[in-house]
Amino acid sequence: MSKVLLLAGDGIGPEIVTEAEKVLVLLNEKLNLNLDLDHAKVGGSAIDEFGVPLPDSTLDKAKAADAILLGAVGGPKWDALDMAIRPEKGLLGLRSNLELFGNLRPAILYPQLADASSLKPEIVSGLDILIVRELTGGIYFGQPRGVRVLESGERQGYNTYVYSESEIRRIGKVAFEAAQKRGGKLCSVDKANVLEVTVLWREIMDDMAKDYPDVELSHMYVDNAAMQLVRAPKQFDVVVTGNMFGDILSDAAAMLTGSIGMLPSASLDVNNKGMYEPCHGSAPDIAGQGIANPLATILSVAMMLRYSLNENAAADLIEKAVSNVLDQGLRTADIISKGLTKVTTAEMGDAVIEALNKL
Ligand code: IPM
Ligand code: MG
Repeated sequence: MSKVLLLAGDGIGPEIVTEAEKVLVLLNEKLNLNLDLDHAKVGGSAIDEFGVPLPDSTLDKAKAADAILLGAVGGPKWDALDMAIRPEKGLLGLRSNLELFGNLRPAILYPQLADASSLKPEIVSGLDILIVRELTGGIYFGQPRGVRVLESGERQGYNTYVYSESEIRRIGKVAFEAAQKRGGKLCSVDKANVLEVTVLWREIMDDMAKDYPDVELSHMYVDNAAMQLVRAPKQFDVVVTGNMFGDILSDAAAMLTGSIGMLPSASLDVNNKGMYEPCHGSAPDIAGQGIANPLATILSVAMMLRYSLNENAAADLIEKAVSNVLDQGLRTADIISKGLTKVTTAEMGDAVIEALNKL
């Protein structure tokens, strides 16, 4: 029996996780996956109920689970809170406590969605990039951090950008191995013309490349990488980068595919235990309206089945069902274009269920 913990979170989180749960429940029965599903609170909803974004009870359940599905956290309701107890700390706390350092963010363009991309179809058609983002280090976790008062009386905010060699090597391993299984190309993104921490990053990637002669390693500064992603994105196969650059570049890469509402992600520890989430956030502006796209979360379930639960056949079924639903012309508001059928969050979830039942 494998334990799966569902953390719906805030904003559109509960709506999209409900649809993903339907898919998980169906496959669990249909394929006898022997999954035990449980639920807990994280983020703003946990603050409302327990006063903290990551209650011990949730962390305990997360530690005991084989895999976690998370919706999204955060929203304007909690924006005024002190940084230390904001909803985002719940998510960051899960990532760091579970040592989920390896974040895989695939950006794949479904051919059916070429029109939904803000770039010309010829620039994005066939796009298939994997961004490997380091997730538990770098400037998001570096100490010291805070806001201090200088002798002059002026306030100064500060954060620390640090990476130790072992942290760089373990994310490098994930990226080189991913490149071996894909197109054999790895681009390491840094800011080695300005930041010493990324000079070390680059040095270590070069050193590791000797052990992976079948992978072609290149380096790119992050500002150039941002430009290249929107200029000629198909030049990339696997991209590896630190926490902050990966956060930013993965949003840009997501948009190439038509909508960030389509992109799943996996965050893995050394043993491939993982937390799975859509790349998008809690979208408070559309929360509760039933119009959010549940496909990124449903596709995150596919990643979970593949990476943490070793159920490749079930993962394939989900991806096929999503593709079939797109073929039928069903679209949520974020990916709608002329002549297609606009559906709600629940209608999209039901359509995936129906497609799965036909496979
Ligand atoms: C993401 C999100 C998070 C991050 C936020 C919500 C803390 O933007 O998963 O990309 O910055 O990592
Ligand atoms: Mg982000």
